[in-house]
Amino acid sequence: MVDVGGGDSRLVDHLVSRGLRCVTVLDVSAAALARSRTRLGELAHRVRWIEADVTGPWTLSPVDVWHDRAAFHFLTDAGDRARYVAHLRDSVKRGGTVIIGTFGLDGPERCSGLPICRYDAAGIAAQLGEGFTLAETMTDAHRTPTGAVQSFSFSRFVRDVS
Ligand SMILES: C[S@@+](CC[C@H](N)C(=O)[O-])C[C@H]1O[C@@H](n2cnc3c(N)ncnc32)[C@H](O)[C@@H]1O
Repeated sequence: MVDVGGGDSRLVDHLVSRGLRCVTVLDVSAAALARSRTRLGELAHRVRWIEADVTGPWTLSPVDVWHDRAAFHFLTDAGDRARYVAHLRDSVKRGGTVIIGTFGLDGPERCSGLPICRYDAAGIAAQLGEGFTLAETMTDAHRTPTGAVQSFSFSRFVRDVS
């Protein structure tokens, strides 16, 4: 699986602690990846770390799961979104899973001070294009450490087998 824009999220810790040996974390921030590596210590070698802009050149062996919490919504340029989706299509196996979380339609218009695009499941489906079937969607009112509430929308898609 790949955690796109995984940053210094602890998702990778949980996956590695459950014995997964096929986890990749991709992020444009070297500092965030370094924090995760340091936190994981000796377990960090079980993870493939890719320091890259998701819209730029990078490669990955085919994965069963593509996970992205709060990275895709930073792509406000249509060309960047197209390049993201092209990578996703190159990387996710047929029958594989795509989980994308973004600010929801009623969520904030900025994230970490930057403009973002807000989505619901239909909006993400439109971005992915043909060949993905929505399996599940949910909203979540995320409370930040400062007490602010951010409305998230998470959607899980399955890539069509044919
Ligand atoms: C709001 S943080 C979310 C981090 C993590 N996914 C989580 O849920 O805790 C967004 C992350 O996306 C990364 N990011 C933003 N734009 C990116 C891009 N174009 N390519 C790769 N990573 C990107 C940032 O560096 C940051 O780590």
